Amino acid sequence: MKFNFTLAALLLFLNLSAQKNDYKVNSPDGTIKVSFNLNAAGEPYYFIYHKDSKVIDTSYMSFDLKDAPSLSKDFKVADVQNSSFNETWEMPWGEQLKVVNNYNELELSLQETSNFKRKITIVYRVFNDGIGFRYEFPKQENLHEVVITDENTEFALTGDHTAFWIPGDWDIYEHLYNTSKVSKINATTLRDNPNLGKHSYIPENAVVTPVTMKTDNGLYLSFHEAALIDYAGMTLKVDTSNFKLSSELVGSDITGYKVKRATPFNTPWRTILITEKATQLIDSKMILNLNEPNKLEDVSWFKPTKYTGIWWEMHLGKNSWDMASGIHGATTQNAKDKIDFSAKNGIGAMLVEGWNTGWEHWIGFEDREGVFDFVTPYSDYDLDEVVRYGKRKGVSIVMHHETSAAPRTYEKQMDTAYALMKKYNMHVVKSGYVGKIIPKGEYHHGQWMVNHYNNAAIKAADYQIAVNAHEPIKATGLRRTYPNIISREGLRGQEFNAWASDGGNPPEHLPIVAFTRMLAGPIDFTPGIFDIKFDKYKPNNQVNTTLAQQLALYVVIYSPIQMVPDLAENYENQPGFQFIRDVVTDWKKTEVLNGEIGDFVTIAREDRNSDNWFLGSITDENARDLDIDLNFLAEGATYTTTIYEDGKNAHWDKNPTSLNIRKFEVTKNDTLKLKLAAGGGAAISFMKNK
Ligand code: NOJ
Ligand code: CA
Repeated sequence: MKFNFTLAALLLFLNLSAQKNDYKVNSPDGTIKVSFNLNAAGEPYYFIYHKDSKVIDTSYMSFDLKDAPSLSKDFKVADVQNSSFNETWEMPWGEQLKVVNNYNELELSLQETSNFKRKITIVYRVFNDGIGFRYEFPKQENLHEVVITDENTEFALTGDHTAFWIPGDWDIYEHLYNTSKVSKINATTLRDNPNLGKHSYIPENAVVTPVTMKTDNGLYLSFHEAALIDYAGMTLKVDTSNFKLSSELVGSDITGYKVKRATPFNTPWRTILITEKATQLIDSKMILNLNEPNKLEDVSWFKPTKYTGIWWEMHLGKNSWDMASGIHGATTQNAKDKIDFSAKNGIGAMLVEGWNTGWEHWIGFEDREGVFDFVTPYSDYDLDEVVRYGKRKGVSIVMHHETSAAPRTYEKQMDTAYALMKKYNMHVVKSGYVGKIIPKGEYHHGQWMVNHYNNAAIKAADYQIAVNAHEPIKATGLRRTYPNIISREGLRGQEFNAWASDGGNPPEHLPIVAFTRMLAGPIDFTPGIFDIKFDKYKPNNQVNTTLAQQLALYVVIYSPIQMVPDLAENYENQPGFQFIRDVVTDWKKTEVLNGEIGDFVTIAREDRNSDNWFLGSITDENARDLDIDLNFLAEGATYTTTIYEDGKNAHWDKNPTSLNIRKFEVTKNDTLKLKLAAGGGAAISFMKNK
């Protein structure tokens, strides 16, 4: 008895003392410091310092499992590995050519000391601009199938930061951004959004990632995830009293659990960007770096491009997707006209929506299985002829697959649909998932749909097809591994300006998007509306920016495919259209010159295929003067610059189309003075003189 007691005390002592020293890992430059440990009960926790201030306080992590005890306590550290990594890799297309991937890693192999002796490894990677960590479930005796009912990863904030957030919706990301203190986040009050109708499900007071915050000390934090593969999307539940975020995975009413996997497997990375300037959030490539390298190798069949489309006119109500409407948009003639317009203006591609039968039943019906087959054109659309005509004019056709959220129908048809595209040499598909997912009980962002989106893209690659999904799962950097995942929606896009009953996207929308949604990856926003008020079609709606800002968005909002969506007649005789003709969609370098979340941002990018630079600057509802130092330009070179700026009395509402154009020569020693109007912007080209 006595002996046992002493032994127990000794073991407890050893246990506690073993846990005294934190396991530590710092960023390569030493500014970010992560500490990990187990408490006396063997529960894992971590905390983070940025320089001398704590930015994440003691935060625990655990998993609740179905029909098994939680993986939460009685752990010991069985093994620890430290390592460093530094490489530079090239993006096949992107915001820049070269990406530095430099981090220090800490790998902690934990094992339960209790009966089951289950194992889990936690891996931290610490970069100069943030951290990522993930859970690795090794192959092991007592853990084969893992059915996760809850992942409990905590992020304990050290203050009541200002957060830029949208609600943790399991079905759609198309919400307006809210700006509030963490203590004031009230996501559930945003249920029943009339613009989203039944397509929205917000079960908890949670937020979607990326969610970005500014601390009272002026530090920036952005929480997200990387490499979301065969797992449920993560929202972050908010404890408004203790300023604590915890992972809340998207579930399924059908299965009742969040994730099912077999060991061995890894979770996605949980990520926190930690920067001193807002602009450094946009600079960061950490999300991409946490993804695996390119598995597709050569994707040169995908060419970054601008594209027009039979599209905006449908959102304006000028014509429609369905033929029964009597105003069918996707006719052979309309497509040919668009091809002519694209060819004339050097635009490489054209999207056709409403080309295939089924649109009479695409929304407003419970049973949408089998509505679309993705190969049968309407009788007034000659697919053969349109593709042939496009080829002759040098304009490729972007395919459209609206699934109306019936992914099982799509999965059955996918090979046939992609084979048709291959036959016609079409290399880009825009897919769509409007509506409640069938089967009922699955959600857009749950594990089942994550697998659908990923598998659709991986299969598309077999057919040399690049994917631009709308109503997608959020971007988590998979474009590094599968560079045929080119762009996506996943936010309130331009289309809301055409029909939302709440006045459309306010002027602060994009200055928030640039520091939140855009940190996840490329956005198919569809900038470039010139007829800002479109009174002829929708007198109660409008775009809430100036024309100059519409131009600036081609540079500010990154995507390798950028739409030129307005009606051709609205670009005619518009001097500002020259900027759209000139701007490119693939870049060698990107420099974020200035910016504050929700206020303004200026980005300069260098053309990947020439030495020309383009710059975009946008502001919220406040007019702003900015000095732009041109030292990003090449040494010893002169450039002919053309500035497309807000006219003297420009204003997003009162005078949106007033545009002033100036042209002159500059070098890198010059500074430009920009005056942005309320809701305005500036777009600038710098053409290097020979
Ligand atoms: C919603 C998409 O965001 C939009 O671009 C598309 O036109 C419609 N769905 C129809 O597919
Ligand atoms: Ca949409």
